[in-house]
Amino acid sequence: MNEQNHTGLHSLILAIETSCDETSVAVVRDGHEVLSSVIASQIETHKAFGGVVPEVASRKHVESITLILEEAVREAGVDLQDLSAVAVTQGPGLVGALLVGVVAAKSLAYALDKPLIGTHHIAGHIYANRIVGPIEYPSMALVVSGGHTELVYMRDEGSFELIGRTRDDAVGEAYDKVARALGFPYPGGPHVDKLALEAEEAVDLPRVWLEHDSYDFSFSGLKSAVLNVVNQSKMRGEEVKTAAIARGFQESVTEVLVEKAVRAVKAYEAKQLLLCGGVAANRGLRQLLTERCDQESIPLTIPPHRYCTDNAAMIAAAAHLKWKQGSFTPLHMKADPQLSLEEWAGTL
Ligand code: KG4
Ligand code: ZN
Repeated sequence: MNEQNHTGLHSLILAIETSCDETSVAVVRDGHEVLSSVIASQIETHKAFGGVVPEVASRKHVESITLILEEAVREAGVDLQDLSAVAVTQGPGLVGALLVGVVAAKSLAYALDKPLIGTHHIAGHIYANRIVGPIEYPSMALVVSGGHTELVYMRDEGSFELIGRTRDDAVGEAYDKVARALGFPYPGGPHVDKLALEAEEAVDLPRVWLEHDSYDFSFSGLKSAVLNVVNQSKMRGEEVKTAAIARGFQESVTEVLVEKAVRAVKAYEAKQLLLCGGVAANRGLRQLLTERCDQESIPLTIPPHRYCTDNAAMIAAAAHLKWKQGSFTPLHMKADPQLSLEEWAGTL
């Protein structure tokens, strides 16, 4: 694939990501060669509150951004004057958190007289797969994170069509709520995953398929079913079978995600399935998806863990698409917590 733009030059993009609870800066060449990717996680701070506290997140970003920026530039060993552009997550995300990255990116772009590229967070998660290898189009992405559960069809590079989304909780959010009911700290997804894989039995829980042709998801009913099982056990004075509940929950979630993703790939004749987002770390999901894709001969890509959770390298990878088009963002751009993927890509 030709990664150069009409000027024939290679790109060197510095990207900033502060949409939630990770402060991250990366320097990436040609949209896939990661020269540095520095991530400061705030998880330890938010753990005490059982979830992300927006005001605390913003303050932490302010504290870390300059240090992380300096570290990313130092690690990449580049001269700031050689940058092609400065990219930043414009949305979606927590507005106060986004704002910190946006102000930093604008200041840097202005001071260096470099173009600014406002970037969509989910486009970033999807294009984390470009760091792994070239993407074959048409492609299908299954986005699973703490804030999103989506199936995105990409007819060709840079085009995004949201064909399915959660109607209530995001899958990571459901994991975190179930984990809390089972007594685990935030973020609970990895605890539930571990317990589920160790469990010898599974509590029978519903699968929520919605209408037969829908690619949408719903996890709040399943989460309530889990809470019912926990509460009933407690009321009867019985032991709460945490492992069996975790396994039942994980089996229900992964079965629905995998079946809908496989059905979407077939219906849209996609050449590849891309998994992305923090929940892509889930071993149960990776196993089942790998098995089903093998059975159906669907090429599957899953980025390494550090590019699945929030990071700035993925933002640089997505920004590279805009750079190739020469499509830059004015300096008066605003952080947009509701930014839509289609609108960002200009395919509406
Ligand atoms: O993509 P991400 O880092 O942040 C968002 O943009 O939301 O995803 C974080 C989410 C959390 O809800 C966390 O519990 C979940 O990903 N997660 C997992 C696992 N590892 C992280 N969920 C299930 N199993 C895992 N192994
Ligand atoms: Zn994310």
